[in-house]
Amino acid sequence: MEYFSFIIYIYIYMMKTESFPNQKSIMGSRGVLLLCLHGLLSLSHGQAINNHYFPESLKMGVANAAPQIEGAWNEGGKGETIWDRFAMTRPEMIIDRSTPEVACDSYHLWREDLHIIKGMGAQFYRLSIAWARILPNGYFSKDAVNPEGVKYYKTLLRELKKLNIEPMVTLYHWDLPQKLQDDLGGWLSPKTADIFAEYARLCFELFGDEVKWWITINEPKQVCEAGYGGGAFAPGIVQPGVGNYICAKNVLLAHAKAYRIYDKEFREKNQGKVAMVIDTPWFEPGSQSSEDVAAAERAVQFMYGLYGHPIYFGDWPQIVKDRVALRSRGEGLKHSRLPEFTPEEKKLINGTHDYLTINYYATHMANATGESPYTQRSFFDDMNIIEWINPAWPKGGPGWFSIWPTGLRKVLNWMKNTYGDHEIVITENGLSDNTGVIEDPHRIKYIRDHLSACLDAIYEDKVRLVGYMAWSFMDDWEWTGGYGSRIGMYHVDYNSPNKTRTRRASALYYRMVCNNRCLVDKCV
Ligand code: BGC
Repeated sequence: MEYFSFIIYIYIYMMKTESFPNQKSIMGSRGVLLLCLHGLLSLSHGQAINNHYFPESLKMGVANAAPQIEGAWNEGGKGETIWDRFAMTRPEMIIDRSTPEVACDSYHLWREDLHIIKGMGAQFYRLSIAWARILPNGYFSKDAVNPEGVKYYKTLLRELKKLNIEPMVTLYHWDLPQKLQDDLGGWLSPKTADIFAEYARLCFELFGDEVKWWITINEPKQVCEAGYGGGAFAPGIVQPGVGNYICAKNVLLAHAKAYRIYDKEFREKNQGKVAMVIDTPWFEPGSQSSEDVAAAERAVQFMYGLYGHPIYFGDWPQIVKDRVALRSRGEGLKHSRLPEFTPEEKKLINGTHDYLTINYYATHMANATGESPYTQRSFFDDMNIIEWINPAWPKGGPGWFSIWPTGLRKVLNWMKNTYGDHEIVITENGLSDNTGVIEDPHRIKYIRDHLSACLDAIYEDKVRLVGYMAWSFMDDWEWTGGYGSRIGMYHVDYNSPNKTRTRRASALYYRMVCNNRCLVDKCV
């Protein structure tokens, strides 16, 4: 048996025989043993694990989102969302034809979930508010506010406070109220940005005393490219190379308007921070040729820069402008498919950040390629790279999931070098698989190696990393990946009436890391 697996095997055995009555401390005799094994883990793989303590400034937490765990899709006055509609009317788009109707039933079981999170030693819980629970049709008016939805999140936030867990709250995790899609075309309309801003103001008003860390929109790239470009995600609009960019502009406006509202009306009183959560894989050049190096950089600019640049510099990345203009000309269009920002819009968007964010899961390879025919039009043709998965690296569940922890360190450095020395929060990182196993040494290894890469970035590269939110504390509805894609440190039995949560080995490991704030047996 490979050394790493052997250590993990003993580790899991210890976990199974350990009772942890209130999950507060693991420092009994078993705890000490676990700690020793934990130390051995650091020697168990060729790669050196960083032996520094996590600095106090680095907050450890866990994350998830309303549409993936709450269920209760039409209970408590909640309105229908684009994901409810998409999953129910287009089952062929979801791998197991499942829907988010019940999910983990966290709407009812939230108290248990908060205690699980507490038991994992998390300082932070990144959760999302379901827009359609607060304003069932999306639109704001005093009468439209759903008191049951407000009460649900108020109670939950109050309980978090009691547990001494800091909330980090996402206002939009892909769950647009269906009515806004039906009436306005969703994110294809700039009106949606205004309506979002009103919803954001309402949330700042309702929950601002409790919440100091706000996220406006999660992963605009997925919202726009998958939702309004390729159409693989709700609402399933297929307008490649057009809808995705219109959407990008509108979500940026939505974010900026919400940010400015917070600035003007709430910052002084509530002293919180607001950001948009942006995701990208890291792209490693397929060779050191200047073309491949440029292709990898271009990929990150298209994925991250498309949203990061407007927020940090007030406009799209130059390479994106150039590429879309070039392809648009080739297609015989008079204007670029990439919408421009007016000077007022640039001013509005520029500087709307209080911290940098990244959802990072995997690293992909990039090579340069020739121009595809102009009859083909998409975000990917604009980006113009060959994207591939390095066969030498281990894989997670879905095919795109190729594991290379150094990629996380590289992307953190890219962010710092591109946007400046800001506080950074890793708002998502975790491992999905399709096995559902309880004993998950592969997830422990993933978390450990990625945290080690974070420590390298902090201590060696002086990246100001202030937060790490592991995705996820429990399995969830993984969008088009359905319930088969398992990404939790707790297993959820979707067939049991009370959606039984069972602790995986990784949950125990994460707790140990959160409590000891160290990845090896002796830290400096
Ligand atoms: C999303 C999460 C999702 C995770 C894993 C991220 O893109 O923000 O909602 O669960 O990826 O697939």
